[in-house]
Amino acid sequence: MRTAADLDVQGQRVLVRCDLNVPLQDGAITDDGRIRASLPLLQDLVARGARVVVAAHLGRPKGAPDPAYSLAPVAARLGALLGQDVPLAGDVAGPSAQALVEGLRPGQVGLLENVRFEAAETSKDDAERGALADRLAALADLYVDDAFGAVHRRHASVYDVAQRLPHAAGPLVAAEVAVLERLTTDPARPYAVVLGGSKVSDKLAVIEALLPKVDRLLVGGGMCFTFLQAQGHDVGSSLLEADQVQRCAGFLETGKVVLPVDVVAAEAFSADAAHDVVPADAIPADRMGLDIGPRSVRAFTEALQGARTVFWNGPMGVFEMAPYAEGTRGVAEAVASLTGALTVVGGGDSAAAVRALGVDEARFGHISTGGGASLEALEGKSLPGLEALA
Ligand code: 3PG
Repeated sequence: MRTAADLDVQGQRVLVRCDLNVPLQDGAITDDGRIRASLPLLQDLVARGARVVVAAHLGRPKGAPDPAYSLAPVAARLGALLGQDVPLAGDVAGPSAQALVEGLRPGQVGLLENVRFEAAETSKDDAERGALADRLAALADLYVDDAFGAVHRRHASVYDVAQRLPHAAGPLVAAEVAVLERLTTDPARPYAVVLGGSKVSDKLAVIEALLPKVDRLLVGGGMCFTFLQAQGHDVGSSLLEADQVQRCAGFLETGKVVLPVDVVAAEAFSADAAHDVVPADAIPADRMGLDIGPRSVRAFTEALQGARTVFWNGPMGVFEMAPYAEGTRGVAEAVASLTGALTVVGGGDSAAAVRALGVDEARFGHISTGGGASLEALEGKSLPGLEALA
């Protein structure tokens, strides 16, 4: 893959696709990790005198402008971090974007409005995406993709535009790909994967692909209850995907799956609800599991001992609510404390959890900015955004 360092960018209009899909609450950014992860490339392009046009998505608007998904808060934060005003276009590739690009001086950065305000961005129709990619390509001389979190999307600003301009990978994409190669090509053993998050159905394909390759698969988060049911336990009113129980039973037969032995069971999905730690095989009928319990954290910590490669994706519980954060914190500590292991935290949510819980990021080998992208890569799928850069 050619990288941005190989391009002569002085005075050139460089279209940069970044993943600036940050979590927002009431219009305020709650975790700016992805913006920070995009800075090295942008600072480098600024230093080399490029006219930098950033394209990015935010959330999943319905293919039309929606102020709730405007990149305005991102433009402000990016500007503060870069130490220069970052103007935001009023559209994606229309008259406002054209005027913005025309006004950019060498060393200046401008941001296009949320690319998903155009229905064509995510269209399954090649011609529709192509037409938007033509308009985006007309804004620039060169294209650099540094949006690792979006490389699994066959979208106009990720895939099609790369075919229309001289292109290169940014340093974030290059670094993420290098780590994925270490995970997928002969990983040092024992190799343990920790999966959490709410829905097991989202992770079936990756579990299936990973089980033959890993030595241990630790399962927490909302998805563990479907496994516990498959083990023959009642899970009360916990999240359950009844149609996946058989499939999970099959996964258990490998003998590699490690499940929680206790859970924090609450009366309701609320931080104020009454809650207790109960054995995983005795969840009361009227309670829902919202976190793994302390004995599970110890069991998971033990199962990770000696591992030389660890990939962790997905929180162990509803970490955003203090009573259900200890499982995720415990697993983060366990992974961070491993010595002599390649430890990778995969995903925007897991990375945000690590930061929100105050676990030092530097204690992990690598914190990936792309959850979906990492999982698809581990599943062995080809990623369109990377195909386009080859
Ligand atoms: C992510 O948050 O994983 C990336 O930004 C991709 O977003 P998407 O899942 O909405 O395509």
